[in-house]
Amino acid sequence: MPDQITGTLVFTVFTAVLGSFQFGYDIGVINAPQQVIISHYSQVLGIPLDDRKAVNNHPMESTPELPTTPSPGNPTPTPWAEEESVASSGIITMFWSLSVSSFAVGGMIASFFGGWLGDKLGRIKALLVANILSLAGALLMGFSKLGPSHILIISGRGVSGLYCGLISGLVPMYIGEIATTFRGAIGALHQLAIVTGILISQIIGLDFLLGNHELWHILLSLSAVPAVLQSLLLLFCPESPRYLYIKLDEEDKAKKSLRLRGGADVTKDIAEMRKEREEASSEQKVSIIQLFTNSSYRQPILVALMLHMAQQFSGINAIFYYSTGIFRTAGLSQPVYATIGVGAINTVFTALSVFLVEKAGRRSLFLIGMSGMFVCAIFMSVGLVLLDKLTWMSYVSMTAIFLFVSFFEIGPGPIPWFMVAEFFSQGPRPAALAIAAFSNWTCNFIVALCFPYIADFCGPYVFFLFAGVVLAFTLFTFFKVPETKGKSFEEIAAEFRKNRGSGQAPKAAIEMKFLGATETV
Ligand code: GLC
Repeated sequence: MPDQITGTLVFTVFTAVLGSFQFGYDIGVINAPQQVIISHYSQVLGIPLDDRKAVNNHPMESTPELPTTPSPGNPTPTPWAEEESVASSGIITMFWSLSVSSFAVGGMIASFFGGWLGDKLGRIKALLVANILSLAGALLMGFSKLGPSHILIISGRGVSGLYCGLISGLVPMYIGEIATTFRGAIGALHQLAIVTGILISQIIGLDFLLGNHELWHILLSLSAVPAVLQSLLLLFCPESPRYLYIKLDEEDKAKKSLRLRGGADVTKDIAEMRKEREEASSEQKVSIIQLFTNSSYRQPILVALMLHMAQQFSGINAIFYYSTGIFRTAGLSQPVYATIGVGAINTVFTALSVFLVEKAGRRSLFLIGMSGMFVCAIFMSVGLVLLDKLTWMSYVSMTAIFLFVSFFEIGPGPIPWFMVAEFFSQGPRPAALAIAAFSNWTCNFIVALCFPYIADFCGPYVFFLFAGVVLAFTLFTFFKVPETKGKSFEEIAAEFRKNRGSGQAPKAAIEMKFLGATETV
């Protein structure tokens, strides 16, 4: 595999992460146009908005403010954050909630099939097929003004969610396979593309751009642009050499694909893949159930799931929501711009992590990120609790939000998405990636669903709760997560055995065989 960055590699990775970009776009896009879509629903359904809790009369503002959307990326508002709850009651609210959450449901379902589809069709064809879903979702939403909008948007979001669920397994798998060197940095590009998608959707969702009564349907359907672009560019991308060689036994084609190496000698790559194939062929086909029942896989899969749970249960998406309320409380007249500021910081620090991850290692960055988030969550809560007594506390909360997001993107944001692939060899990798992506989507959905109730119950203390959760995951990481940077699968497997407290010779030998090859990650 490439140990240098070649034009083909850059082109291929760029093309692949256009899928991640769509994922981010779809997470963020529903946020800004909430109010205009809700009022459109009210027209279509003939239900006056006055029947519902007011969305326009924010106590602290004279101008109507777009309430932040409950979404997989942004849970439902709660009263203490001074947002008028739009998820209060009524038919429109129900349709709106479904418009938001059908995305996560689609994601949860499809995340199971990303790896399977990639194995069945090959990575390129799978991405192409996935794009059909993306286009279908965009079309349903783009034409939603022509029919029953609520039905078209709910189904469109669901279909887009299916797309995102597929690619959240497919993209990390494909880019992980085409890049051995700089795998960490290249893997982090998936997250960079996600956050760029979120940021772009936040910006073009501003009401003077597309987030208005006339153009919101265009805003929702714009993910078709990267979908079409990706489909065209994919035709020029090489299939994963690992898939061709190890899965299909197509040595010549694999060699052709190794043009990713820019004409360099590929003997070593072929030898590496041969070794991995030999080991993979001695492996039974690994099902998701086996990942949990086979003692060789149990430890790595549990760690993989914990990484994704840590990412979601850190409360990152809850923070995304509350930033708007807190920025408003801090006296900002246009909190939506501060939220875009969070999106921008998010992107800058993700970009930084692309460079850091090769230098500092995954485990260290994950730990630094989680520890930083722990401290920030404490400051967030202290700021919120004391807000009534000391107004300047809002600035403490505000700063803590910016830092929280920055720490998230240094490690816990990008790392789970690619580190899981490093735990497993070719045999169990697709099943592992599928279950990891599924757990990510599920936790995302759980946070979106439960956070409002927990926040209602805990009030401003809610971020103490997240601090506790983050601390628990930090300790888990410290004791159980091995460093994978610069290590072969064998070494990673050995680390897992060490952490498990076993690892005696005969068993170790068997496990090495299971966990696979000699490839250095
Ligand atoms: C990660 C998470 C996603 C979150 C995003 C924020 O990709 O998986 O849920 O919204 O980071 O940057």
